[in-house]
Amino acid sequence: MVAGIVAGRLALVTGAGSGIGRAACQVLSREGATVIAADKNYEAALETIKTHTALASGANAVGDHSAMELDVGDSKSVQNLLDVVMKQYKAPATIVVNSAGITRDNWMLKMSEADFDSVININLKGTFLVMQVFARAMAVASLPGSIINISSITGKYGNIGQTNYTASKAGVVAMTQSAAKELGKSNIRVNVILPGFVKTPMVETVPDKVVQGMLKLVPLARMGEPSEVAEVITFLASDKSSFVTGATIDVTGGF
Ligand code: CAA
Repeated sequence: MVAGIVAGRLALVTGAGSGIGRAACQVLSREGATVIAADKNYEAALETIKTHTALASGANAVGDHSAMELDVGDSKSVQNLLDVVMKQYKAPATIVVNSAGITRDNWMLKMSEADFDSVININLKGTFLVMQVFARAMAVASLPGSIINISSITGKYGNIGQTNYTASKAGVVAMTQSAAKELGKSNIRVNVILPGFVKTPMVETVPDKVVQGMLKLVPLARMGEPSEVAEVITFLASDKSSFVTGATIDVTGGF
């Protein structure tokens, strides 16, 4: 018998090949979920399943995790993912973590239209598409579920070099609140996490001088670990948060 706060649940994590998505796979599997790690980079998703999930799940290993290729910005790819999941597991994932995201940072005055569009397409439309396709499948199967979207604290306050990214992340917050209102009657909860500066490959691209300036604004005076976001994701995924929906939760060290 598998133990844990999400034991027996099927969890889909997008952007699972690195950063917060990879950590989410680790913690969700430790807590008993069967994990589908989806990423545009299939090899990276497979690496998550092989090394991180297996290591982390230990005694809780359910041995039924899988890696799948997914381009969240492409509706055909998202629909195909659902079809594959239904074939393999005979049910939709009822935990969905939308962690796939990209940056194309530049000064607003220099930003290309292509860099604006690609960030909105992956971060905002991608989250919409995955939510729509999987929430619909949960509703059709009359299964309660929990969707956790990953926004960013920069979506609340803005950030130099990120007009495209902050717009997408603010959109994810508003979209989450709307979806929570629509899906409550189907007992599907939708919440959004706003991480601050967390040690991920995305943050590694930020110039050191900028990082040092940011850290001065963090009361806990350090960057977060991906696992510290993943623990909150797993809480929201579980029945421990059964009366929480439409919530926005900052995980920022107090920034
Ligand atoms: N705050 C204060 N000053 C900043 C700044 C910031 N956020 N960003 C840049 N500057 C300053 C630089 O320190 C530099 O100052 P000096 O001329 O005195 O040295 C000046 O602006 C020019 O900066 P660059 O030399 O870096 O200019 P660039 O044209 O090569 O690049 C940039 C501009 C793309 C905005 C680059 O500075 C940059 O990438 N900034 C960081 C953007 C950022 O914070 N991204 C967050 C990524 S992590 C993430 O997105 C996850 C999340 O959710 C939090």
